[in-house]
Amino acid sequence: MMDKARRKLIFALDVETLSEAKHWVTRLRGRVGLFKVGKQLFTRCGPEAVGMIRDQGGDVFLDLKYHDIPNTVAKAAVEASRLGVKMFNLHALGGKEMMSATAAALSEHWEGRGKPLLLAVTILTSMSAEALREVGIPSSPEEMVPRLAQLAKQAGLDGVVASPREIALIRGVCGPDFVIVTPGVRPLNAAADDQKRIATPAQAVRAGADYLVVGRPIATAADPEGAALSIVEEIAAVMEAF
Ligand code: C5P
Repeated sequence: MMDKARRKLIFALDVETLSEAKHWVTRLRGRVGLFKVGKQLFTRCGPEAVGMIRDQGGDVFLDLKYHDIPNTVAKAAVEASRLGVKMFNLHALGGKEMMSATAAALSEHWEGRGKPLLLAVTILTSMSAEALREVGIPSSPEEMVPRLAQLAKQAGLDGVVASPREIALIRGVCGPDFVIVTPGVRPLNAAADDQKRIATPAQAVRAGADYLVVGRPIATAADPEGAALSIVEEIAAVMEAF
């Protein structure tokens, strides 16, 4: 059970340089399931960052949130998948045609061989109802998130990235097999940092999250390896109770 639980934990590699990234991968490989490479590290170090993690035996969630015309995103997605990442994402607001074209391009490229999971970001958690109105969207995030998740599913995507409070809404419309990756996770004794709508690892898994993204609660802990282990233990305890 500990191994299954460990595979659900994604460490956010929110660092500047390849050597800092390498430091964390060396410390945490075998203790977390995947490493998340985001825009900061990828813009600075590029595919080399992904290659380094894979060389060290780690798996990668490439968090670049593509949002462009269908042809461009589909082609970028095939390139992302060629890097050997386990999962990556795009913005559902790019529309159904963009999502379908991307899912189709991946299936065509991989022809049934283990293609990476394609996830959608629905509404950024930094967008309030008021921020949505400002850009001309009258619906609330609570209406938009399940609507976009359903659209992503219809377009052939594997899952979504969602905050803990959105999990139940999404499970309701997308069913049990749709993958949900959840950031904003904070163990009880950890600082909230700039995260607002947080949940503990146990709450997130109980609510139906398949993967948890955790950065600072591990990176800034006095004992990062111990912090990762206690999160994995917390996940395992919920899984055992199911
Ligand atoms: O350090 P912390 O655990 O807050 O890191 C969470 C990671 O998840 C960061 O890389 C952050 O960019 C990402 N993320 C998030 N909230 C979202 C989407 C992504 O915190 N809604």
